[in-house]
Amino acid sequence: MDPCSFASVSRCVTRHLNLDLRVDFGRRVIRAQVELTVEVLEDRFSALTLDTRDLQVVSVSANGQAARFTMGPKHSFKGTPLDITLPFDLSRGQHVVVAVTYETSPAASALQWLSPEQTAGKEQPYLFSQCQAHHCRSLVPCQDTPSVKHTYYAQVSVPKDLVAVMSAMRDGQEVDPQDKDRIVYRFRQPVPMPSYLIAIVVGALESREIGPRSRVWSEKEFVDKAAFEFSETETMLKAAEDLAGPYVWGQYDILVLPPSFPYGGMENPCLTFATPTLLAGDKSLSNVIAHEISHSWTGNLVTNRTWEHFWLNEGHTVYLERMIGRSLVSEQFRQFKAMGGWKDLQDSVNTFGANNVLTNLVPSLQDVDPDDAFSSVPYEKGFALLYHLEELMGGPEVFMGFVKSYIQMFAYGSVTTDEWKKHLFTYFRDKVDVLNKVDWNAWMFTPGMPPVKPQYDTTLADACIALSQKWVKAEDQDLSSFKESDVKALSSHQLIEFLSLLLHEDALPLTHVKKMQEVYDLNAIMNSEIRFRWLRLCVRSRWEEAVPMALKMATEQGRMKYTRPLFGEVFNYDKYREEAVRVFVAHRAAMHPVTSGLVGKDLKVDASKTTSL
Ligand code: BES
Ligand code: ZN
Repeated sequence: MDPCSFASVSRCVTRHLNLDLRVDFGRRVIRAQVELTVEVLEDRFSALTLDTRDLQVVSVSANGQAARFTMGPKHSFKGTPLDITLPFDLSRGQHVVVAVTYETSPAASALQWLSPEQTAGKEQPYLFSQCQAHHCRSLVPCQDTPSVKHTYYAQVSVPKDLVAVMSAMRDGQEVDPQDKDRIVYRFRQPVPMPSYLIAIVVGALESREIGPRSRVWSEKEFVDKAAFEFSETETMLKAAEDLAGPYVWGQYDILVLPPSFPYGGMENPCLTFATPTLLAGDKSLSNVIAHEISHSWTGNLVTNRTWEHFWLNEGHTVYLERMIGRSLVSEQFRQFKAMGGWKDLQDSVNTFGANNVLTNLVPSLQDVDPDDAFSSVPYEKGFALLYHLEELMGGPEVFMGFVKSYIQMFAYGSVTTDEWKKHLFTYFRDKVDVLNKVDWNAWMFTPGMPPVKPQYDTTLADACIALSQKWVKAEDQDLSSFKESDVKALSSHQLIEFLSLLLHEDALPLTHVKKMQEVYDLNAIMNSEIRFRWLRLCVRSRWEEAVPMALKMATEQGRMKYTRPLFGEVFNYDKYREEAVRVFVAHRAAMHPVTSGLVGKDLKVDASKTTSL
């Protein structure tokens, strides 16, 4: 059972979706029809339930015959069940095509509609989707659960100056036969995938080839920058294939979204979505792209059966992402990143509280909104468990043998933690005595930090630890010993780690951060991973001049990893609490619906509130 879905997946499962979408920027709605090809799993079958959220359903038919339907009561995050009664009975093994004609809401949680002023080009509107975890139902009525996989085909009609792309192979385009001012773009996704990987973008998009199976897409202003930033894509794809097996999705394109995109990256098949914050500052081997590439195996091929098993997606993906770092950089680099991840885990455990069941590797999500549960825990507790097992089982090569076998075993399917664990015990059947010594209950079903702390190689971290400790221990009279050259020898990865270490300590005295600015000029660094940590540090030390900079970064881009802590940090500064609320309320209408919902909760602002305190 998926606690996040109303769909009746034990009685029938969707095998294919055929989507017809007409994107209306004037009314900010999509008028649509979806045909679901549903396989029946039981005899005397005549009713099914689909997930919806804020959809206006016009009509429903089954194999072309009108079908009766009712909408249930709206649930706060699960949405509204759509109960359909077929005009006939079916038996186990039969298929039925259920067609739903409907319209989305301007407030659809999966969609953000941007005005031309919110785009780089300023001339055309823009639309993008983000369906993970449970938002697809606000775009398409469907069995919105990762336990079900299906292929899809789509036709999207958009105004003729705009381009549509989806998480699928492009399959041609033509003038809309119903309106010569519009174009219909077609897409096919022949690999079965869960609903949360359906994705669409419409905007003034251009693209450029960056590899034999890859293009970058964005507004024309960013295409060249993106092509430069992501030039190592094919190298990473090859490294991932060496580790995990053949890439089955055909194309691997990257789309750079407008600044309000709420995540760093999203593994939409054939078309990874990426935040434009990756383009700011110096070029660095991007772990976001290594991460999203890795999802092509763990997540998209082998999928968590429900969001309670989300760590299977993210833990294995972080493991693969770091293995790519090992292949392309070094083992020391992997160890360095793993150590940083442990600290991210500690931050999440601190934020949620060490007794909070949402810090379990496998939490119960009964009555929990997956967006509220989101944190580094599934990523980093998951990685830590896999790394611990790697050490117990005989090292990276040996353990990659298991990961590869897990992928082969469950490819095209959805898995639970239990099935993963059974496969682990089968694969390492000669070492079950060692596996039986693992405290599985502590790792999986107990809140807080894991029962075992891995010892990572500190070669690359030593310089970061030494410099951060020097700042922590410094008295005012020691400040003159800090020099610009302290950070000149650090890579950007190490500078990030240096700042993360300081964020783990008590706030530095204001004199210290002012001195740090004087000698390192961190205000001038545009790399967003560095900038967001630096601004948090400044606000924590109560440097008033940093407050407007922090709020500027929190609103000029909308990646939740940055925006939520930046708002939160200013909110925790008593003198500027009202200012944080005021800025949030002023920007809320232009923010992504999920981001504004979560920042609103963080800042304890009522959802209906339109003016400041
Ligand atoms: N699939 C996630 C993003 C996501 C998770 C969206 C849950 C909605 C609900 C994606 O693969 C991800 O983990 N992105 C990270 C990248 C990082 C771990 C390198 C991000 O956005 O920061
Ligand atoms: Zn991920």
